[in-house]
This record gives sequence, structure tokens and C-alpha cells, in this order.
Amino acid sequence: MGSCWGSCFSSSIKDGFDPKHSGIGGNSGSGSKVSSATVPSTPRTEGEILQSSNLKSFPFTELKAATRNFRPDSVLGEGGFGCVFKGWIDEHTLTAARPGTGMVIAVKRLNQESFQGHQEWLAEINYLGQLYHPNLVKLIGYCLEDDHRLLVYEFMPKGSLENHLFRRASYFQPLSWNLRVKVALGAAKGLAFLHSEKAKVIYRDFKASNILLDSNYNAKLSDFGLAKDGPTGSKSHVSTRVMGTYGYAAPEYMATGHLTAKSDIYSFGVVLLEMLSGRRAIDKNRPTKEQNLVEWARPYLGSKRKIFQVLDARIEGQYSMSSVLKVATLAVQCLSTEPKFRPNAEALVKALEQLNDSSGNEGSGRSHAEMASKVHHSSSNSPKARRKSRNHEVGNGKAASYERPSASPLRT
Ligand SMILES: Nc1ncnc2c1ncn2[C@@H]1O[C@H](COP(=O)(O)OP(=O)(O)OP(=O)(O)O)[C@@H](O)[C@H]1O
Ligand SMILES: [Mg+2]
Repeated sequence: MGSCWGSCFSSSIKDGFDPKHSGIGGNSGSGSKVSSATVPSTPRTEGEILQSSNLKSFPFTELKAATRNFRPDSVLGEGGFGCVFKGWIDEHTLTAARPGTGMVIAVKRLNQESFQGHQEWLAEINYLGQLYHPNLVKLIGYCLEDDHRLLVYEFMPKGSLENHLFRRASYFQPLSWNLRVKVALGAAKGLAFLHSEKAKVIYRDFKASNILLDSNYNAKLSDFGLAKDGPTGSKSHVSTRVMGTYGYAAPEYMATGHLTAKSDIYSFGVVLLEMLSGRRAIDKNRPTKEQNLVEWARPYLGSKRKIFQVLDARIEGQYSMSSVLKVATLAVQCLSTEPKFRPNAEALVKALEQLNDSSGNEGSGRSHAEMASKVHHSSSNSPKARRKSRNHEVGNGKAASYERPSASPLRT
């Protein structure tokens, strides 16, 4: 995070966005992509998108004040397009408030020189300005002033799933098994809403860093910059330039650019594997054969005997054999090479709901040691600290301090 400050204004790693296929400029849209009757049908131009959303348009000075001039120590995280800062506003007037008073917000400030950043900024407003669901992060407003482009979200106190699974800092305790199931369920509900007839959206960037957690570990999907309207009529897919994040994108999508809701399901399977294993989808710090999580884990997933090779040793003893095998089976199904064998998001919700109920989660924030069961094992997946270095160069020529996959064009 500290290293974020220097790289906040680096050049974009997301060049190659094709606005023709962005779902902003050229899509006809059906008008069905709303969950509120007051929202107009899918907007088409930038002006329409900005005008039609029920979002607050913030003056830049207000966000500057709310974040205390984008103070480095208020950085919540960094993505491919810039940094996210913590800030405070008055909940009634939506003007800057003193730190610790009013409402906490997360302000994403985009790098200024990126065309693609602007397109994704607009896509975010287009989608999150229209779609409302408990498992989607709430966008409060935006700022467009001179070269400044910012997005203002509700603050998610527990940060991202990525932080909880992979950060080794002492303030990030490893997420317990029951909370992993709870988070997977919340994320599946968000995806099911996006894929529903009502919304018909393909998310295209399902990954651990885009799953944010509230104070009760309710999961909310964030980052709709790559989202696309799903196919309409008799079409089976939409054709796109391949965008997404290495390690999470479905193989057929990478090979053909044909995008379907089942591409998101594949990515969901990758996140399930990350939850099972505590390993990143791509980890360049591991031995070559273990760097790609799906390739490495696949042979172990179907067998009671072998599954322990994959499991995160930090949650040893917290789960029952049957629940682990159920999640592993779901992951295998989601990762089917053939998209039609992957379950849909509704089926994922049902399966995870059963698991969540049987784990006694239901809204509890209680200790997970008491959930511990019979399973003990020795695993080769020990929680040793890993040196982390970001896998792409940032604008100031320095590598940031940790590695994690980031959204980028997979093929240009
Ligand atoms: N609303 C929020 N509340 C709290 N923390 C947030 C919020 N939004 C983002 N963050 C934090 O900021 C980090 C950066 O978010 P951002 O969406 O910019 O990038 P990313 O998802 O990590 O990566 P990429 O740009 O590759 O998609 C997140 O991983 C999360 O830790
Ligand atoms: Mg994100």
C-alpha cells in the first residue's frame, strides 16, 4: 500500500479497450437491465450515462477535502488504474466531513492519462448507476472535472477477499473456513443477480480483489469497468476483445473472444480454488509447475486422499471432509473445459446455501475454532511467507511490493 502512492499516476496497463464493444457506445440494450423502475433504459452516450444515473456528481475539491488531499496514509489499495482512498462525507449534504465523522467512503482516483481508464470509469457508472443488489458494491457518485476522474463508493470495512486470503500482515488473519463459504455464497448471489434475466450482464472481472467485504463479511462485487451486456435474442455469446485477468479468464474466452455468462462461472471456480488452497490464481514465486493454480490443483481435486495436498494449512481442522469435498466438486464443475458442463450461478447459490446453513454461519460472526471438526492432515501447503512483487511494471519504473493478478488485455 505504501508503494502505491508513487505509482498512482503511472500509465495504464489496460490499453486496448475497444469502446465499440464496451456496452457503452454501440450497444442497443434492451432496457431490462434495471432493478429499479425509476431508472431509464440503457444509456448510450456519455452524456446520457452521466445524466441518467442516480449518482451524485462531486466537485473535485470536495473529494480532495474528504480524503485530506488524497493522503498516502489513507490509501486502501491500488488497482491497474489508480489508488483507492478512504474519506469522510456528511451523509445528508454529501460534502466533505471531518475524519471519523459522517459517512465513510472509498474514493477511486483514476490515472489521468488513460483513454481506457476513462472508458472503464464510464462503464462503472453505466452499470453501477443502474444495478442495485445487496451483493453489489454501492456507487455513491463520481467526479468528472478537467482531467480528474473519480468514483465514490460505500466503504467496505473488511477490504477485499484478496487481502484476507493472501496478505500475510498480522492485521489480516486468515479467513476461517466458514467465512470462506459465506463469502463464496455472497459472491455467487451477486453473480446470479448479474446473470439473471433482469440484469443480463456478464461481469468479466470476477476475482478475489473485486470481492469486497462489509463488517459482517457479506460479499459485494465491485469493478464493473469490464462488464458487458449479455447476448440478446438467439445469440449464444457476445464477441469481444479479450480482456480480464490472467489466471481467472476462461480458456475458450481467451482462445476465441466469445464471451458468455459461463466465462464468469469459470472465474468463480478459480476463486473457489483460491479459497480452498490459500494460493493465488497465478503465483510467479512458486515452482514452475505450481504457478498456475488451476493446472496444479486439478489432479488433486477429485480424490478424498489427494485433496489435502491442495488445502490451505492455515484453516486445518476447521472444516468437515464432506464440506471441503463439496466445494472442491463445485470448483471442478466451474472449471470444466466445456462451458456447458459448468453450473449456472443460481445452482452455485443453492449448493453454497446448503453448505453455509450446515456450517452454522447464518449471519454469525462467532468464533470459528468451535466449528473445528475431525479432519487432520499433513499438507505440503504450509503457510510460509512469500516474497511478493507485482507482476507488471508501473509508471515510475519501480515494482510495487506485492504480486497479484491485475486486469489487463489478455490479447490485443
Ligand atoms: N469500496 C471499497 N471499500 C474498501 N476498500 C476498497 C473499496 N474499493 C476498493 N478497495 C480496495 O482497493 C483495492 C484496489 O481496488 P481496485 O478496484 O482499484 O483494483 P483491483 O480490483 O485490486 O485491481 P484491478 O485494477 O486489476 O481490477 C481493492 O483490492 C480493495 O482492497
Ligand atoms: Mg477492483
